[in-house]
Amino acid sequence: MNTVDVITRKRDGSTLNAEEIRYMVDGYTAGDIPDYQMSAFLMAVYFQGMNEEETILLTKYMKESGDTVDLSGIQGIKVDKHSTGGVGDKTTLIAGPAAAACGVPVAKMSGRGLGFTGGTIDKLGAIPGFQTAVEEQDFIDQVNEKGIAVIGQTGHIAPADKKIYALRDVTATVDNLSLITSSVMSKKLASGSDAILLDVKCGNGAFMQTKEEAEKLARLMVKIGRAHGKKTMAVISDMNQPLGCAIGNALEVKEAIEVLRGNGPEDISELSAALAGMMAYLGEKAATPEEGIAMAKKKIADGSALQKFRDMVESQGGDPRIIEDTALLPQAEAELAFLADRDGCIEEIHARKMGLASQHTGAGRERKEDEIDLAAGILLYKKVGDFVQKGDVICKIYGKNIKKLEKALEEIKNAVKISENPVNCNSLIHEVIQ
Ligand code: URA
Repeated sequence: MNTVDVITRKRDGSTLNAEEIRYMVDGYTAGDIPDYQMSAFLMAVYFQGMNEEETILLTKYMKESGDTVDLSGIQGIKVDKHSTGGVGDKTTLIAGPAAAACGVPVAKMSGRGLGFTGGTIDKLGAIPGFQTAVEEQDFIDQVNEKGIAVIGQTGHIAPADKKIYALRDVTATVDNLSLITSSVMSKKLASGSDAILLDVKCGNGAFMQTKEEAEKLARLMVKIGRAHGKKTMAVISDMNQPLGCAIGNALEVKEAIEVLRGNGPEDISELSAALAGMMAYLGEKAATPEEGIAMAKKKIADGSALQKFRDMVESQGGDPRIIEDTALLPQAEAELAFLADRDGCIEEIHARKMGLASQHTGAGRERKEDEIDLAAGILLYKKVGDFVQKGDVICKIYGKNIKKLEKALEEIKNAVKISENPVNCNSLIHEVIQ
């Protein structure tokens, strides 16, 4: 087979067969197909799309590019959760422990942040001492003993995705339905859990901007999950403003602890409880999603979810004192406040622009080899629908030096709109697909 022929066929809108798709995945993973040809192929897929059959095949070969984790050593129904990526999305740090407190074994492999979106592994990296590189047997033992472990994805799981995702990130080919589906589902199917909960983000801070696109993505991923014998559900949740008030790694850990104490912002508290409850349902600890959500809320209110978070931190070498004293988390050297320039109601806090601003503070990577500043980020003092008076603090920006923060401030000025009239907030959960 010839790589140029496959690229040409996709460029011209043909449907690829199994052999061609496998050739591209295997060839690129093995290093036989260079980045420049894979980039051209991804761009062809981006513009021409792939049909359902092609997407299913792409997912299958990406999954088969590496190992499948055997979690049969963990008792119970293992439920995985995956977000398609957003801004301020720290739900894994809350829903994971809350689901574990409901009795669901949570054996989760997470990723790093990409572009304007954050990643759970970077957030956990803000906890002093916390280890995310854990041997498979230790991972299994920890879930059996403590009910939860969240670790980094090993290179052996869907290595094709690891390589392709890094290339998509720098070739403007991330936000494509077939490419997102194959990326998410290849990893999830290889991660060995029995059930999968997908949080498909929708809005200007998500890869899927409209409800229609998000729904299409969610339905296809659910279909693929089920075709592989996994109980799969999807939530379509709003990402038009950052989730919660914190964006940036240490800031988000602090907010997650507040939510687990029952004191967090309403949106992140509600979504995290909903996700934990659906995990409890998928894990057969609740008869309905609603019963699961009520159970998760109870586990947060009685402190058992926070205890699971503590167990996880301790077991993975992290300093549990951060739970009582969040000042032990990395602290920024410089800060800058963004103030309201008039009276009114907050009409928009554009999630993508806030994500980019957070990246400029140093909280995210501009290039994949960049070191991140764990203390950097943004703390919102106002959310959409809140009233402000001229001079009120809308948000504070944290980082290493004022110069970096000034660049972020420029982005934030474009992200926030104040209206003269009252503004209603979007609903948080648009749809549940089960
Ligand atoms: N999350 C992933 O794992 N892959 C994508 O392509 C997008 C979001």
